[in-house]
Amino acid sequence: MAETIQGLKRSCRAAELSETMLGQELTLMGWCQKQRDLGGLIFITLRDRSGLLQLVADDDSPAEVREKAARVRSEYVLAARGVLRLREAPNPEMPTGLWELHLQELRILSEAKTPPFYIEEGVEVKESLRLQHRYLDLRRPDMQAVIKLRSDVSNFTRHFFEDEGFLDIETPMMGKSTPEGARDYLVPSRVFQGRFFALPQSPQLYKQLLMTAGCDRYFQIARCFRDEDLRADRQPEFSQIDIEMSFVDREDVMTMVETYLVELLRKIKGQAPDEPFLRLTWREAMERYGSDKPDLRFGLELCDISDLAAAMDFQVFAQALAGGGSVRLITVPGGGSMTRKEIDKLGEFVKTYKAKGLAWLAPAQEWRGSILKFVGSESRDALLERSGAAEGDLLLIVADPDNRVVLDALGHLRAEVAAKRGLFDPATDKLLWVTDFPLLEWDEDAGRYSAMHHPFTMPMDEDIPLLDTDPGQVRAKAYDIVMNGYELGGGSIRIHDRDLQNRMFGLLGFTEEAAYANFSFLLDAFSYGVPPHGGLAIGLDRLIMLLAGLDNIREVIAFPKVQTSADLMTQAPGEVSRKQLDELGLLIETSGTDQDASMEAAKENE
Ligand code: AMO
Ligand code: AMP
Repeated sequence: MAETIQGLKRSCRAAELSETMLGQELTLMGWCQKQRDLGGLIFITLRDRSGLLQLVADDDSPAEVREKAARVRSEYVLAARGVLRLREAPNPEMPTGLWELHLQELRILSEAKTPPFYIEEGVEVKESLRLQHRYLDLRRPDMQAVIKLRSDVSNFTRHFFEDEGFLDIETPMMGKSTPEGARDYLVPSRVFQGRFFALPQSPQLYKQLLMTAGCDRYFQIARCFRDEDLRADRQPEFSQIDIEMSFVDREDVMTMVETYLVELLRKIKGQAPDEPFLRLTWREAMERYGSDKPDLRFGLELCDISDLAAAMDFQVFAQALAGGGSVRLITVPGGGSMTRKEIDKLGEFVKTYKAKGLAWLAPAQEWRGSILKFVGSESRDALLERSGAAEGDLLLIVADPDNRVVLDALGHLRAEVAAKRGLFDPATDKLLWVTDFPLLEWDEDAGRYSAMHHPFTMPMDEDIPLLDTDPGQVRAKAYDIVMNGYELGGGSIRIHDRDLQNRMFGLLGFTEEAAYANFSFLLDAFSYGVPPHGGLAIGLDRLIMLLAGLDNIREVIAFPKVQTSADLMTQAPGEVSRKQLDELGLLIETSGTDQDASMEAAKENE
């Protein structure tokens, strides 16, 4: 039978112990990390949220205590009362390694089966097993540290924005499904059978309506839901630090966010990033780094050699240029020592980004390279001059009739090479703004434009006339904050004019009636006096991931979902009863058995 804590009160957690407490009688509570029974002497490592402490039962402890200590196994929950004293054999690895609690009383509050994996930092365990038993996984000190970090960041964030005059306002979870954006998660209505609520992909329209409502500055740590393909930095439900401000232009929002991030990093990492953050226009970022979220912790800039390539007699280059594309390269410092096998692997790598091949040249006394025979000595000199490469370096070249393929492939290759060759210090952070995004991008499948950010983004003032003549060239008052190669957040100044908003919907292929049918609440609101406004949302999960130096957001979410969007612990999504379906007026066509099988497969695949 489990014992109770009646009459015992916890003095402190392990990490709160101090030298001044030596000689005091203290009570600690937690889990048994490890028990060692050396006959007359029994050691128990007690673990709580904050850390570890050694408990000891010896001849001077009551017999009942020794008897109980002998029975204790890993993960038993204990209450321990005793006197804090110096250890005979200190453990320099443990923050509390100088001390131990000499047991006077021990209660077993809960027994435990042998857990499916060791509850220790850094133990290699299959992720699916960790997620099925997340409550055990979270006991591990590294996970506890992340949970604490997340809580600290949320609290700091709340205080920061409150001090800046932002109001924390909750917005609905059940709203209206509107087109544009990712796929919605839907909630069927019982009262209006056949109708659905949508979970918010972000509070975008609500926060704009709050500006219309006169709230002036809004802030929320908002839950968002998007039914899209998951990646290491995406979850179907995630959190945003979401802000919106009235009577502002781009600089005001960017300055606010920059100040927030600088103070946050100073507080959490003890080191603030350089200010002001670097800024690149979207075009510059694409041209120089092949990405709209470049990692600036290393160089490896892209170099356009289209004009030089035109002088080479290589069919692939000629075709790329004739097709309106380009030929570009990156220079890998010291890359000349890479083996053919390593280079071939990079060739395979770029193919995953639709490049058809990767040509390479290694300048040296005796040049080597896959396209050497097409590159005469004049071309070689010109290449060295253009790229700044020297003997011993490696030139990696991609050509394609579609410029976007060249940029994308080299952008990813750049990051791959930097990671493989350790070209940056993972302990440094590089933050930058990417601005002047195109307002629209051409959607090949739909045969129309779609919004690059979202349909409520304000065009640059000087580009508004282009909306009628050359919409593809219109730049937006949008900005992304990028950290270490990740899009941390994005935002924009919004359209606050009903006519302009209608023109934007028109460009996105909505008739006026369709736009009104979908967004009547916004368009109506725009008829009643709207302040100029803008904002931004930072992905909280990504922020924590980057602060913790991790590369998977599942590691910073208490109960995350896996690739299939399933929760391996609760087995959600689950079936519901016939009665529930009837109440909702729903009929299911897929059989339940198939679904069970795919849930099992999800577990296996993780
Ligand atoms: P956006 O769609 O760019 O903008 O999202 C803002 C930030 O949210 C994070 N994010 C995600 N994090 C985890 N999993 C996901 N599936 C996911 N999707 C997005 C990213 C991203 O930068 N309403 C606008 C913001 C605005 O204009 O104010 C919005 O949602 O870090
Ligand atoms: P090939 O003449 O097909 O043997 O190709 C010679 C070299 O050009 C090989 O290293 C190929 O990987 C490379 N190559 C092929 N297509 C491209 C491309 N689109 N861009 C850059 N290099 C390419």
